[in-house]
This record gives sequence, structure tokens and C-alpha cells, in this order.
Amino acid sequence: MPEDRSRVVLVGFMGCGKSTVGRLVARRLGWAFEDMDRRIEQHAGRPVAAIFAEEGEQAFRALEREEARALQRESRCVVAAGGGAFTRDDTRALLQDGAVTVWLRVGLETALARLPQDGSRPLAGSRDIMRALLAEREPSYSRADVTVDGGAPPEEVAERVLALVRGRTAEKRTRRR
Ligand code: S3P
Repeated sequence: MPEDRSRVVLVGFMGCGKSTVGRLVARRLGWAFEDMDRRIEQHAGRPVAAIFAEEGEQAFRALEREEARALQRESRCVVAAGGGAFTRDDTRALLQDGAVTVWLRVGLETALARLPQDGSRPLAGSRDIMRALLAEREPSYSRADVTVDGGAPPEEVAERVLALVRGRTAEKRTRRR
């Protein structure tokens, strides 16, 4: 694996901790943190749930792909991908380019326990729907460069991510302290 990658992309199911862990990893590396969903919301001027409701999932996936394309040009950043982003071939290829990709793997119970019931995740349905979605997506998530157990407390998960991405990124040559 080339040692000059200057982006870390966290992927995995809703509730796996991508945003929480991503912020911690970014802080430790001294890199920027980018949340794909928040960027989409900023550019679209409305919440993800509204995009799903008003334009449908395919329109959201197109916005997600464009966000992945924009992030391809960013360096020295940690990206929290949306839970479905890595399951689309075209978006996954954009996210993988020049990045170290990390799957934060969690079981169904952990994901369900962490998800807010506030309607912000339009695809978060019943337990059975979530179980099926997780099973369907795991083969895609497993295509990440490395896998970390996302079930531990965020500080611990962040430590494990850092240990794995060091040596795979430009971080060790650009970091001053
Ligand atoms: C989605 C996950 C969400 C968001 C959208 C679709 C998915 O992101 O992108 O609701 O398909 O799993 P999080 O993984 O940050 O919840």
C-alpha cells in the first residue's frame, strides 16, 4: 500500500460511530474532519431526511457521489462517509482513491442502541429491516483497507484506527510533533 495517502475515510453501518470517531482521529492527526452527510445538507440547504422525502433515495445517492468526488480533491482530512456510500460501486471508487479506508464494524444491537429515533435516518426501519440491510451491506464494507471493532468506547476505537492508519498515510512524514 502506498505510504502517501493523506485522507482517512471511515465507513460502516448507521450508528457505528463514524462521526464521533472521525472527529477524534482528525484531532489527533491535526487534520480536518469532513462529514459527508453534513456537507450534502449544506449544499442542498436541507436535511438528509428532507432530500429522501422530497426527491427520493436515488437523488440523495447522486448528491452523495458528487460529495465523494469533491472530497477526492481534499487532503489531510478524515471523512465520515454516509452508511450507504461505500455500497455503491462508483461512490466507493471515489472514496477509495488516495485514501486509507476503515470499516468500523458493529453488530446489529450496537447499531440499533446508538441510533437516535428522531427521523434523521430515513432508512432506519424495524429491527428486521435493519438486520437485512446490515447483512446485505457487510460484503461492501469489508472491501475497506482495514477493519476495526466499532463497538468499543469511541476513544479506544480512535486509538485503534490511528494505530492502523499510521504508516499507511502521509501523516508520519507531515506530522511535526
Ligand atoms: C444512510 C445512512 C446515513 C445517511 C442516509 C443514508 C444509509 O448516514 O447517509 O440516511 O444508507 O445507511 P449515517 O451512516 O451517518 O447514519
